[in-house]
Amino acid sequence: MRMRNKYKKPTTFPCNAGSRCSTSTVVWSLVGFLLMLHLFSLFSHKDRAGGQMQLHKSHQPLFRELVEVEEENIQIPPPKGKRSPRAAKRRPKRTTTLIDEFLDENSQLRHVFFPNMKTAIDPMKDNGNDSFYYYPGRIWLDTDGAPIQAHGGGMLYDETSRTYYWYGEYKDGPTYHAHKKGAARVDIIGVGCYSSKDLWTWRNEGIVLAAEEIDETHDLYKLNVLERPKVVYNEKTGKYVMWMHIDDCNYTKASIGVAISDYPTGPFNYLYSKQPHTFDSRDMTIFKDDDGVAYLVYSSEDNSELHIGPLTSDYLDVTNVYRRVLVGQHREAPALFKHEGTYYMVTSGCTGWAPNEALVHAAELIMGPWETMGNPCIGGNKVSRLTTFFSQSTNVIPLPGLPGSYIFMADRWNPADLRDSRYIWLPLIVGGPADRPLDYNFGFPLWSRVSIYWHKKWRLPPR
Ligand code: DGJ
Repeated sequence: MRMRNKYKKPTTFPCNAGSRCSTSTVVWSLVGFLLMLHLFSLFSHKDRAGGQMQLHKSHQPLFRELVEVEEENIQIPPPKGKRSPRAAKRRPKRTTTLIDEFLDENSQLRHVFFPNMKTAIDPMKDNGNDSFYYYPGRIWLDTDGAPIQAHGGGMLYDETSRTYYWYGEYKDGPTYHAHKKGAARVDIIGVGCYSSKDLWTWRNEGIVLAAEEIDETHDLYKLNVLERPKVVYNEKTGKYVMWMHIDDCNYTKASIGVAISDYPTGPFNYLYSKQPHTFDSRDMTIFKDDDGVAYLVYSSEDNSELHIGPLTSDYLDVTNVYRRVLVGQHREAPALFKHEGTYYMVTSGCTGWAPNEALVHAAELIMGPWETMGNPCIGGNKVSRLTTFFSQSTNVIPLPGLPGSYIFMADRWNPADLRDSRYIWLPLIVGGPADRPLDYNFGFPLWSRVSIYWHKKWRLPPR
């Protein structure tokens, strides 16, 4: 339901036989009606939210912990080195901000954003009461004791084996700049795949799509770019299909790439690249809807807008149908999910590897129109909320058995050493009326609020 004020200036209307209503009577009746509708909408949202809390009651108090607001005060240290008592009295010329500290690889706060190996999450050690706890930003080890390499990742849940497969950029190589003005990069190594039954203990399934070492004309030639791989299973063909962002080292090729496999653990056979619907395409994702139709969502027109279009029924190509959405909003890193028939999408702004503010958008139809709701981040501190907790969205995983609860997956990029980028996984909860729809929608909170809660440490409620 999308309401717009389309009312034309009324004159007088016939009300019933023998009487006539004035303009003001009609206007006031309309206002009254709209007010009633507004109240109804508010209450029905509250009911829905209440219903949802009801559902979660059985998981209390662990569910309650997920939605607890956790503030985090990070103290900026005084400038390094000896300062004369006189200089100490003077104001420093330029005070650093938390975001400056985050971007400074020599910051004294480095360990806060990128904790060292000593604190790594290691599912293979005896963790006692710490088992199954996520520590966003810490190094996360696989079952072989190596840091997980699945950046810009996506998740596939295989119903038959009840196994999660996490695919992402395998970046375990040196970071460098391809040329003076080039962005920090790691050569393509390939797409890493990890499997898990509990979303915490991850087994390395190897590189399921590898770089091309010799043929310079190949899309996967190591000096090119492969980002944000996403895998979907096609029930009709029984194939696993991987979509990814394919580029050259200057990000001018701006294409999608497609690969296919008989197994979730590969190997994937690389098929081709193209510019979808003849448009440039950079950050992207794939969303598979309940009816089996899958959609490609990509940043286009130099990242100024997103495009959404259905894939062919074998998922190997786009059709010629697409819509331009969030036009002029300059969003990237799209992560889509669906809740009670509404589509939601988390996106980031476009600031390279530096973090920025996440926004949530909602739509009743996946092809749009999409409406921007606002920043979903709750807790932490002001800077961390304005930087998506110093990370960038990549995917949202529904938690089976917990309607309205999701895991928000994001990357805390480390441009000084991209292989050491960290994973920020946090609970994302849909519920309650949206507090501040940013787009014009006649003032109605049409969508439920999407909230991503900061936690230094958290775990999933046991199923
Ligand atoms: C932001 C994108 O979201 C990342 O995937 C990557 O392309 C960087 N930009 C490169 O600067």
